[in-house]
Amino acid sequence: MDLSKKYGKIFTVNLGLKNLIILSDPKMIKEAFTKEEFSGKPSNEFYKLLGGYGIINTQGSIWKEQRRFVHSCLRYFGMTIFNKKNNHNLENRIMGEVAYLLNSLKSQKGRAIDLNHSFVISVSNVICSLLMSVRFSFNDPIFRRLMVKIEEGFILFGGIVFLNYFPFLRHFPYFLKEIKKIDENKVQTHNFFQKIIDDHRRTFSETKTRDVLDCYLMEIKRAELSGQSENLFQGKDHNSQIRQIIVDLYTAGMETTKTTLHWLMIYMLHYPEVAKSVQAELDAVVGRKRLPNFDDLPYLPITEATILEVLRKSSVVPLGNSHATMVDVQFKGYTIPKNTEIVPLIYAINNDPELWESPEKFLPSRFINAEGRVVKPDFFIPFGIGRRNCLGEFLARMEIYLFFTSILHTFDLKLPEGHSLPDLDGIFGITLTPSSYKIQLLERSFECEIKPSESLPDFLCTKRMPVGSH
Ligand code: HEM
Repeated sequence: MDLSKKYGKIFTVNLGLKNLIILSDPKMIKEAFTKEEFSGKPSNEFYKLLGGYGIINTQGSIWKEQRRFVHSCLRYFGMTIFNKKNNHNLENRIMGEVAYLLNSLKSQKGRAIDLNHSFVISVSNVICSLLMSVRFSFNDPIFRRLMVKIEEGFILFGGIVFLNYFPFLRHFPYFLKEIKKIDENKVQTHNFFQKIIDDHRRTFSETKTRDVLDCYLMEIKRAELSGQSENLFQGKDHNSQIRQIIVDLYTAGMETTKTTLHWLMIYMLHYPEVAKSVQAELDAVVGRKRLPNFDDLPYLPITEATILEVLRKSSVVPLGNSHATMVDVQFKGYTIPKNTEIVPLIYAINNDPELWESPEKFLPSRFINAEGRVVKPDFFIPFGIGRRNCLGEFLARMEIYLFFTSILHTFDLKLPEGHSLPDLDGIFGITLTPSSYKIQLLERSFECEIKPSESLPDFLCTKRMPVGSH
């Protein structure tokens, strides 16, 4: 089968015993990924390791049922454009973490710092509070150990990727050793989350749903009461399913969001004139008496376009997530066999000269139309598209916007003396991550002291100013 002869942006590869199709035409990706037949997952080492639990590496009825359920839980906690009040609850959770982050950054007094640990903690705390109502302090040793394990897990997985295409290699001593390490790493990570699940079971109350974990405990209770326990989660072990859902949402939401924040900082160091225009827009719209909030976003086209251009240029998830065909499928007049892996090449789309004018240039203005409004072309799909598109897109956009704008509103960014600008290429893996870099954050002055308050609009001056006075 060679679809590439007819359709320039399809590549088919035969690797070992596996068929692989790489798609880099956004229209074709949309057409394929909106079809149920393309919603499967490749049955590779990763799939086997997770044993059909969770959401990211499941398919068929369990995936469909879990996606619907997780989606409804996330909506309940504010991840929806349709419920302003709930949006504000989510915004408050994020702004709480923004406050901790800003305080910690201020305490550095403009020294050259590596932001990684601060971003990891802040983004982790947002997702952990939604999932299981816990937050970690900036120096918590238990949390540091967990981070090391998760990072090790990503690296170990990168090391066995060949097994997905040449499974017979798994009997070689090197791979046997690596698989053993992955299993041990998985047990340690699971033990950490299991302890939190056990604590939650002890303190669970049917009258108050604190987080996603409680939504699951409630679902189990309901199933028990209605005699449906055995059918719940398609008959899979309840505890393993809850634990894998937490791990899936945590890992999917943490690495991507934190990496995007790094790219935003790095692009602002490379393009200080863009950073200045974002700050000027924030000063004009938000003023110097409070931090930006989510309601400001429609009035901040330069800021929004800058975030979008960084998402495009950095291609944080360069290969999207692989899908697989669930059955033999007819597509564009060809038969694609069952279990063919389909890779949506988001990186190629983001850099395609047929889609973008001068794609190599960093130009936030490409997302602003003649009327000064932000426009996102249909082919821009950093969060994927179709039936398995990103479940956390709303949360990610809100977090990225609030962290980025709060940092730029509070600090000027500076490259430390004697340091060269961070590399823009990134290190290729499941995510495209920047190499480590140092930055100086120099405090900008506000017109009054900024303190968190109980309800929105949060972070107003302690002395409230009359509306419209900035
Ligand atoms: C900048 C941040 C993020 C980016 C760029 C991103 C991107 C993506 C992409 C490209 C996919 C694959 C879509 C597909 O298979 O077609 C995906 C899936 C997913 N993302 Fe995100 N994501 C981000 C943040 C988040 C957050 C914060 C969460 C947490 C709730 C999350 C949860 C998920 C889940 C659960 C899936 C799997 C959906 C499924 O298989 O049905 N993501 N994301």
